[in-house]
Amino acid sequence: MIPRKTVAPEEIRRQLSICREILTSVNASAAHPLAMVDTYGCQQNEADSEKLRGYLAEMGYGFTQDEYEADIIVINTCAVREHAEMRVLGNVGALNHTKKAKPSQIIAVCGCMVQQEHMTEKIKKSYPIVDLVFGPHELWRFPELLQEVMLKHKRLFATEKSDGAVTEGIPLRRDGHVKAWLSIMYGCNNYCTYCIVPYVRGRERSRLPEAIVAEARELVEAGYKDITLLGQNVNSYGKNLSSGTDFADLIRMINDIPGDFLIRFMTSHPKDATEKLFRTMAECEKCAHQLHLPVQSGNDRVLKAMNRRYTAEKYLSVAALARRYMPDLVLTTDIIVGFPGETDEEFEDTLKLCEEVRFDAMFTFIYSKRVGTPAASMPDPFTREEKQRHFDRLTEVSNRISGEKHAEYIGTVQRVLVDGETGKDPYNLSARTNGGRLVHLKGDPSLIGRFCNVRITAGNTWALYGEL
Ligand code: SAH
Ligand code: SF4
Ligand code: F3S
Repeated sequence: MIPRKTVAPEEIRRQLSICREILTSVNASAAHPLAMVDTYGCQQNEADSEKLRGYLAEMGYGFTQDEYEADIIVINTCAVREHAEMRVLGNVGALNHTKKAKPSQIIAVCGCMVQQEHMTEKIKKSYPIVDLVFGPHELWRFPELLQEVMLKHKRLFATEKSDGAVTEGIPLRRDGHVKAWLSIMYGCNNYCTYCIVPYVRGRERSRLPEAIVAEARELVEAGYKDITLLGQNVNSYGKNLSSGTDFADLIRMINDIPGDFLIRFMTSHPKDATEKLFRTMAECEKCAHQLHLPVQSGNDRVLKAMNRRYTAEKYLSVAALARRYMPDLVLTTDIIVGFPGETDEEFEDTLKLCEEVRFDAMFTFIYSKRVGTPAASMPDPFTREEKQRHFDRLTEVSNRISGEKHAEYIGTVQRVLVDGETGKDPYNLSARTNGGRLVHLKGDPSLIGRFCNVRITAGNTWALYGEL
């Protein structure tokens, strides 16, 4: 068993009392202090931003999307691909203008990108407008860090290397009232050779089942209808717990909470997906028949070089097993094109696997070199143009299959959860099927947050259309 570090509850109480100190001083100087939290990257980061907003709300800040209006701007960054980092740096650079217009503005940059030394150095040297930088491991002490910046008027960098800990009790400010994120674990131990996440997010560690179930219960009582359990690899949930609770057990515990709601989760690693999980998903009536199971490649040499620890054949058998338990399963995946040394033939294997599995949706990425990962030093002889050609072909296959899958829904009746407005006529409402497919509907906004039966009348690659 791996030891599991926790942040002591009194530490969080201390952070909350710092929030109250800030509240007093901020209220004395500004009538309606405003904060803006801008989030990049995955759902884990969205969940972290809810904690940042929770702390900021305790400090008395309201929220804005206008960077000129904000007294504090927090940019929560992602490091998974170069594109994500470039976007962040571009947007941080643009804050030169807002800070000039409002010199008292505090700019903080946090999250995965700044947990990399070379990025922190870059911000130190080239982005003097940034006042505070902190990595994911320091998020729990954001109030303390912010107060130091406020009192000392000095730049602060808190990006110590760490394996990470589990923190309970940080207040959350959630977006919306229908769907909620629920982090069940943090970090990753898998070290896929292309991926930066284990280096910036630390070792895999699970929250206690009691804490998760209590939070799920609160969400259901507050009226949330769609709860997504989050972790980089939820299938290895519980490996560092003494109780022996695994991910399937956790689903069952949440399923036992009274109320009409759906349980979703992401992400699952194929090497750890078990028959017990699929049986549990099939048996638990609140668990959505939806599985995001990233395959990354359909070629065994590439999978091995990626350190994914399964073969294409093993992946196919896992997918088939899941569908045997849930014939209506919505199966989605992630694929990387252009991993170092991937040949035309190896790419063809990926296409073949996709044609065989017929994913409901595929999230496709061109390989991006990440500093310090093993793949970064593998020979990478193929050009960007060659990779782009493969990427375009894969996108074509993915779009075609998603379109065909959506066409199969036409004429069926689906139970959907209405989750928001589209802002467009005539299909003014958006909803999700049990399997998580997007449905556009015509209806009264009072339906938001309700389950309804909908007849599907049309569908394309991206969405379904329906009538109540
Ligand atoms: N923990 C999740 C995924 C995290 S990152 C999992 O294991 O599935 C989300 C996706 O980004 C990955 O599935 C992968 O397809 C992609 N990705 C990660 N690192 C990448 C890189 N260096 N270049 C391109 N895509 C990458
Ligand atoms: Fe990255 Fe692999 Fe961990 Fe996913 S499982 S976060 S791809 S190292
Ligand atoms: Fe990006 Fe960090 Fe998530 S690198 S994908 S925000 S875990």
